[in-house]
Amino acid sequence: MQDYSPPDDLLQGRAILVTGAGDGIGAAAARSFARHGATVILLGRTIRKLEAVYDAIEQSGGPQPAIYPMNLEGASPKDYQDLAATLEREFGRLDGLLHNAAILGVLTPLEMYDLELWARVMQVNLNAPYLLTRACLPLLKGSEDASVLFTSSSVGHRGRAYWGAYGISKAAAENMMQILADELEENTSVRVNSIDPGAVRTRMRAKAYPGEDPNIHPAPEEIMGIYLYLMGPDSRGETGRSFKAQQ
Ligand SMILES: NC(=O)c1ccc[n+]([C@@H]2O[C@H](COP(=O)([O-])OP(=O)(O)OC[C@H]3O[C@@H](n4cnc5c(N)ncnc54)[C@H](OP(=O)(O)O)[C@@H]3O)[C@@H](O)[C@H]2O)c1
Repeated sequence: MQDYSPPDDLLQGRAILVTGAGDGIGAAAARSFARHGATVILLGRTIRKLEAVYDAIEQSGGPQPAIYPMNLEGASPKDYQDLAATLEREFGRLDGLLHNAAILGVLTPLEMYDLELWARVMQVNLNAPYLLTRACLPLLKGSEDASVLFTSSSVGHRGRAYWGAYGISKAAAENMMQILADELEENTSVRVNSIDPGAVRTRMRAKAYPGEDPNIHPAPEEIMGIYLYLMGPDSRGETGRSFKAQQ
């Protein structure tokens, strides 16, 4: 599915929420979903970056997106309820949810992990996707064909030294994906899967591997095939599975 080539109208008429939509993979996914007809809700913490993605979508003739500024680190359960209420008012349902926002934290032995940073990483990478999914479930159930995507990582599939809170948050998010898929398989049209993007040329990758030549890895735009496949109708019936964006 990495070389999936969808029709231009693949996501026509769908409302899709993308977290961390201002930069990296999230920005590329938002632009790509819009290019295939989706109305994208751009959620992120840096308004300037969200506006740049908004402008790019407008300029390319995609459906008018929406910006929803939100810092997942400080958001309360009520903030998620307010977001869901806004989506209900504006769209009446939600057809797609891409949990993409994450922070790296620090690479260090578990024994020495800064506790405040631990809590921040868990809040953004694990608690936020839970709270957001929970708040949006009634809207997702209101769609004929809803897709929820978690973003995983190789260090979430197999623990690796020094990856600390990031690796643990990704492993837990993977488990959350499986639980949700299992719970929603019967009697709902909501499917839940995860994508491991692999090494991609973004700010996060550069922070994790500062000595590396970034050009050896694909740009976010180059890995969108699997994102489109899993967001669109061709993946109906797929649920509870872990996908890779690169071989
Ligand atoms: N790049 C890779 O090689 C790689 C490999 C495996 C997995 N991943 C995963 O892929 C996803 C995207 O990563 P990326 O490489 O594109 O990283 P990135 O360029 O650092 O982008 C992360 C996005 O998340 C947003 N974000 C971070 N904290 C937030 C918060 N508290 N509230 C709202 N938004 C927040 C960022 O917003 P700001 O721009 O405003 O900071 C940014 O838009 C992540 O889940 C990451 O774990 C990436």
